[in-house]
Amino acid sequence: MKQKYLNFIRGVSINKTGKTGVVLATSSFVAMIFLELLRVAGVLTNAYIGLITYLLLPTLFVIGLVFIPFGWMQYRRESGKSTKELLAKQFTDEELEKNRIGSTLVRTVLIFTMANVLFLSIASMRMLSFMDEAEFCGTACHSVMGPEWATYQVSPHSRVACVSCHVGEGVGALIDSKLNGTWQMISVTFDLLERPIPTPVHQLRPARETCEKCHWPEKFYGSKIKSIVHYDSDEASTPKYSTLVLKVDSGEEVGKAGIHWHIDKSNVVRYASIEDEREEMLWVELKQENGTFKRFTNRKHTDIKYEFDDERTMDCVDCHNRATHIYENPKDAVDKRIRKGLIDKSLPFIKREAYAAITSSFTTPDVANQIIQNRIISFYRDNYPDLLGTKGASIDKAISILQNVYNTNVHYGMNVDWGVYPNFLGHQNGGGCFRCHNIDLIDEAGTPIKNDCTMCHSILANDSPQPFTYLKDATNENRDSVMHEYLKDEFLEYSTQ
Ligand code: HEC
Ligand code: HEC
Ligand code: HEC
Ligand code: HEC
Ligand code: HEC
Repeated sequence: MKQKYLNFIRGVSINKTGKTGVVLATSSFVAMIFLELLRVAGVLTNAYIGLITYLLLPTLFVIGLVFIPFGWMQYRRESGKSTKELLAKQFTDEELEKNRIGSTLVRTVLIFTMANVLFLSIASMRMLSFMDEAEFCGTACHSVMGPEWATYQVSPHSRVACVSCHVGEGVGALIDSKLNGTWQMISVTFDLLERPIPTPVHQLRPARETCEKCHWPEKFYGSKIKSIVHYDSDEASTPKYSTLVLKVDSGEEVGKAGIHWHIDKSNVVRYASIEDEREEMLWVELKQENGTFKRFTNRKHTDIKYEFDDERTMDCVDCHNRATHIYENPKDAVDKRIRKGLIDKSLPFIKREAYAAITSSFTTPDVANQIIQNRIISFYRDNYPDLLGTKGASIDKAISILQNVYNTNVHYGMNVDWGVYPNFLGHQNGGGCFRCHNIDLIDEAGTPIKNDCTMCHSILANDSPQPFTYLKDATNENRDSVMHEYLKDEFLEYSTQ
């Protein structure tokens, strides 16, 4: 049996071209099996080797197979012999002898062809599933997806595959994404890509097909206490507290709506924005009970015309645009590390210096890491030389934490500096919720979209010395005592509903 196949292989490799084909096909086949075994065994996880296993080797394999008949054609032309003569030269009479189901040779060719088709189908299935792995999406074009991969790995969705949000389900989505991916490969190869990658991502699948596959919109989210600490730039890095009771739930009753009012099926909000950037609204429309839409027009932009295509119905991503790729702002990033105890708060001026260190340059990671280290060390050496000895370990740790903050959030190669990607979840710098909940978007009667401070959250402290300042009794000397009492009553009323 073995001899038969060896004879066959020898027979088909008629000249140099044919031999090259056989060698190419066989060696890529063996290499692919070998790499696949290593991957299955968990030894290999690298995305580039995946590209070799599932893209390069199968391509070489097919080229090898094509070479074989090509070699035959070439040989026939050069030698002037007929196919019959060549067959007789390369194979034994026994192999060529015909019986009811063709000659041994025909059968061998059929078996080989079937095996090849099977092998290639398995390879392409493996390729499709491999390309769906986050590891591939995040690292195959390393420099390009660097920012998204870095932020993804430390996000609440680090166990969710990129394709669960970016591709969605169904054959249509799959084909779309492969076409899109092919275009992306071309644009990476020829450097046609915009850096940073622009947002909003217009071709993101609708939230209904992605987020809602895992998150149930009507779920009772209740409310959520969020306590935020900001540290001052003074020597002690004094903490200031903001405590919010976020009214996350959708709230069934009229007038008691919470933030997820927006995703209740009966509430529809659509809008058009300047340049379709979703940042500056031209108008916002709210579906009424009778099915018509009530429009709020931006009185600052009544002169701008919009394209009808640019209209968008609001979904999860209009607030959770940073559900996964959460780029921090540098102040909050430092505050969070101090609060977690990763950066030692007892180091004098640590908040001020840490912030300055990570924002002082925009350059390659190596240079930036050096700058961060030099800046922190020289500050303490010049001002608190004793600390280099007594708190040396804390200072070193702070440096490595800050380098890590920088490397996760800032990506020089992709032009991703601090603040390139806005976060819509709150109202930083008047964006986010305030894109719509502001006094400029007004209906025909001149009434704006609701925007009072306690609609989305009760406020228990607002940059206050204590986390629950407004729950305490207001003292008479307190200039803010009216607001203080108001916020306290609002919260008590809200929480005793
Ligand atoms: C939980 C859902 C989710 C997962 C998982 C996810 N993304 Fe995203 N991605 C988003 C959303 C939402 C946006 C922002 C869309 C917008 O602003 O319009 C986005 C934006 C992007 C962008 C545009 C640039 C940017 O940073 O905003 C890229 C590139 C990207 N994702 C790549 C990836 C890669 C690679 C992975 C896997 C390693 C991944 N995504 C995983 C939801 C997800
Ligand atoms: C494949 C399932 C899956 C998909 C798709 C998905 N999520 Fe999630 N999401 C999760 C899981 C699981 C968690 C909980 C993670 C944890 O608590 O560690 C989560 C957590 C969250 C959280 C809470 C984050 C926090 O800080 O605790 C938000 C907000 C969220 N997802 C929004 C979204 C949005 C928006 C989308 C669509 C763009 C989406 N998710 C798509 C599975 C998914
Ligand atoms: C109007 C803006 C908005 C929309 C639209 C929205 N969310 Fe949220 N969502 C929020 C805010 C604000 C929070 C609270 C954020 C926080 O915890 O810091 C939140 C919290 C969450 C949480 C975490 C709840 C918890 O208990 O920690 C999940 C999960 C979530 N949203 C999923 C979704 C999904 C899925 C959709 C779309 C079906 C969606 N959200 C649409 C604003 C929105
Ligand atoms: C694209 C515009 C838009 C954005 C962005 C937006 N909203 Fe809204 N929201 C509306 C409109 C319109 C209404 C209906 C308000 C009304 O009836 O006056 C509404 C209603 C609400 C309500 C219910 C109010 C009530 O009592 O009826 C809450 C709570 C809310 N939004 C919270 C948020 C939060 C939190 C964010 C940001 C994370 C946000 N919204 C972002 C347009 C928006
Ligand atoms: C449309 C809903 C909405 C309205 C109106 C609103 N907020 Fe907020 N606010 C939010 C959300 C959402 C967050 C972000 C919570 C988070 O970090 O997840 C936030 C965050 C905050 C924070 C914490 C910011 C930080 O990081 O330190 C403060 C303080 C605050 N709001 C005060 C106010 C005040 C004062 C007003 C009235 C002028 C107001 N908010 C109106 C939704 C709203």
